[in-house]
Amino acid sequence: MRYHTLGVLLHLASAAHLVLEAAVFNWPDPLLDTLDDQLYLPFVSPVSTFALDCTPRDNSTIAAQWLRLDIGVGMLDSLVDFLVSPNEYVGMADVIAMGAINAVVGCGGPVIPFRGGRIDAIEAGPATVPEPQQDLASHIASFKAQGFNETEMISLVACGHSLGGVRQADFPLVVTEDVPTGVQTFASTIGFDNTVVKEYLDGTTENVLVVGSNVTTRSDLRIFSSDGNVTMQSLASPDTFNQVCSDLIGRMLDTVPSTVTLTEPIEPLDFKVRNTLLFPQGGSLAFLATLRIIDTGLNRSVTMFWKERTGTFCPPAGCSIPSFQVTTEDASFLATLKDVKAFKLHSFNAAIDLTTSISHFWFEVNNNDGSAPFIVDNHGANFTIDQDVLVFDPRRSSFTIGGSIMVVGVKDPSSTINVTALTTIDGSTTVPVTSRVTATFELDASNPPADGYTFYTSPINFQFLSNTIHATVNGTAYSLWVPLLGAPGV
Ligand code: HEM
Ligand SMILES: *[C@@H]1O[C@H](CO)[C@@H](O)[C@H](O)[C@H]1NC(C)=O
Ligand SMILES: *[C@@H]1O[C@H](CO)[C@@H](O)[C@H](O)[C@H]1NC(C)=O
Ligand SMILES: *[C@@H]1O[C@H](CO)[C@@H](O)[C@H](O)[C@H]1NC(C)=O
Ligand SMILES: *[C@@H]1O[C@H](CO)[C@@H](O)[C@H](O)[C@H]1NC(C)=O
Ligand SMILES: *[C@@H]1O[C@H](CO)[C@@H](O)[C@H](O)[C@H]1NC(C)=O
Ligand SMILES: *[C@@H]1O[C@H](CO)[C@@H](O)[C@H](O)[C@H]1NC(C)=O
Ligand SMILES: *[C@@H]1O[C@H](CO)[C@@H](O)[C@H](O)[C@H]1NC(C)=O
Ligand SMILES: *[C@@H]1O[C@H](CO)[C@@H](O)[C@H](O)[C@H]1NC(C)=O
Repeated sequence: MRYHTLGVLLHLASAAHLVLEAAVFNWPDPLLDTLDDQLYLPFVSPVSTFALDCTPRDNSTIAAQWLRLDIGVGMLDSLVDFLVSPNEYVGMADVIAMGAINAVVGCGGPVIPFRGGRIDAIEAGPATVPEPQQDLASHIASFKAQGFNETEMISLVACGHSLGGVRQADFPLVVTEDVPTGVQTFASTIGFDNTVVKEYLDGTTENVLVVGSNVTTRSDLRIFSSDGNVTMQSLASPDTFNQVCSDLIGRMLDTVPSTVTLTEPIEPLDFKVRNTLLFPQGGSLAFLATLRIIDTGLNRSVTMFWKERTGTFCPPAGCSIPSFQVTTEDASFLATLKDVKAFKLHSFNAAIDLTTSISHFWFEVNNNDGSAPFIVDNHGANFTIDQDVLVFDPRRSSFTIGGSIMVVGVKDPSSTINVTALTTIDGSTTVPVTSRVTATFELDASNPPADGYTFYTSPINFQFLSNTIHATVNGTAYSLWVPLLGAPGV
């Protein structure tokens, strides 16, 4: 993996298309599900909170470190920030891109649309991060290779160098005079704004890549002045600066190999099903689900409906149950910039008939404002429970600091079967990259068969990680994604 956000983007992409349609979430979709949570709920991932208020760190800012992500303490600390966020479906490259977007808004900059679906490189590519001692022609060539022309190169460097500065420990031949903090900042303001441009134009800049005593490493001066300062003058308008930076940083982040297809921009979902759990309990199947609705101030009531999997049990209109609780959850700062202040979580706890089980569910929402109730049914497709053979059992599982045990139930296995989980494991502060392990489940002696299910168990060494469980029962392969984070009942 290449760690300068600029360098992540090596192979040329087909030009990013600028269709302003939001990605459609057809449940279940673990990629969009995870990305939406990490972008729009606070506290699900550090990417949505750590860089807020342009928080200082290491005498620069977290935001600057996330946007550059290249070398030294800034890279290491950023990867440690990010290490808890990837899972089996979301790669580190998407987390880095979300970090860059949150870095910019966290310092008061423009909102950049986020698209997901990047694929992590598994080996290093050529070294493509531009270096300050390289000449103008090399910089023009490396930006061109990423799809940026000379005007765009000038703007993109100015946008990036709105934040942070050059660290003497990393570039002793660039920062030749001692700076008390060890970091020579690009601009006199900390936030994401065009001060770096204005100070360049009015001759007050202390940007060491412009006025540093080492002429060889004055790369910003060579770049900024390469068109007679025309582009820099155009960026003297704050609105132009924000618009241009949003477009160009967005394009930089969305530059991916032609084999990768990014999603449409991910916007906060009006209605989102979260945290479904189906497991045997006391003679029935407990089915827990939550419908997340953007809070618009209405006092809504929501009813969940479902139909049986086999046989006849529910009335023709479906079995139904009202929500047992409605809670309010704050939205992330990025969501508030998209006019989403909070979400209402409508939670359901249904006892499903064990024999006839459940095939699909949907909701009826009443705004209680005189308007007609309406149906939320996964865009007409229903929320389908594709199987009830392999289930995760949160009540038989246990999650403690000392060690966690996952228990899954398998319905009617004809013989001993092979239950495994692909688990994503956090990196550590010394090796901050995610890894994957396969865990094998054993027959669970402490949980005897019940309600037609046989239980299998596996210790999980790391808490709060995403697991995808696999089992083949009677020749059919089943899999189940268990995003432990925030699951109710856990
Ligand atoms: C020719 C192109 C570029 C060159 C030669 C260059 C060079 C540098 C150097 C030498 C540093 C100091 C890093 C350190 O001390 O650890 C730096 C910092 C930084 N660069 Fe660039 N850069 C270029 C383009 C960009 C672009 C396109 C962006 C983003 C859009 C960017 C964003 C940043 C940020 C945010 C920092 C501050 C990091 C911090 O304070 O921790 N740079 N750059
Ligand atoms: C770079 O492309 C932009 C349009 O994307 C165009 O306005 C600008 O003139 C181009 N600059 C150069 C040097 O070709
Ligand atoms: C200036 O920087 C270049 C490139 O890093 C280096 O080779 C050179 O020795 C530096 N000059 C001085 C006077 O530090
Ligand atoms: C930050 O600056 C202080 C002096 O103001 C210095 O003592 C400290 O080592 C610097 N920390 C880092 C991480 O550069
Ligand atoms: C561009 O601006 C810089 C910084 O103010 C100045 O040193 C340089 O002479 C200008 N170049 C041109 C061609 O105007
Ligand atoms: C919302 O409506 C329910 C009845 O549907 C009622 O019990 C509750 O008091 C209402 N809450 C508010 C804040 O109006
Ligand atoms: C969705 O569920 C309803 C109620 O069971 C059913 O009438 C309808 O055919 C289902 N639609 C699809 C696309 O499965
Ligand atoms: C597996 O096969 C056994 C024996 O034929 C049968 O009793 C059981 O219901 C089957 N289980 C599933 C989940 O298909
Ligand atoms: C169990 O499944 C895993 C993953 O699919 C596979 O690697 C392993 O060989 C299987 N073990 C047995 C005993 O079938």
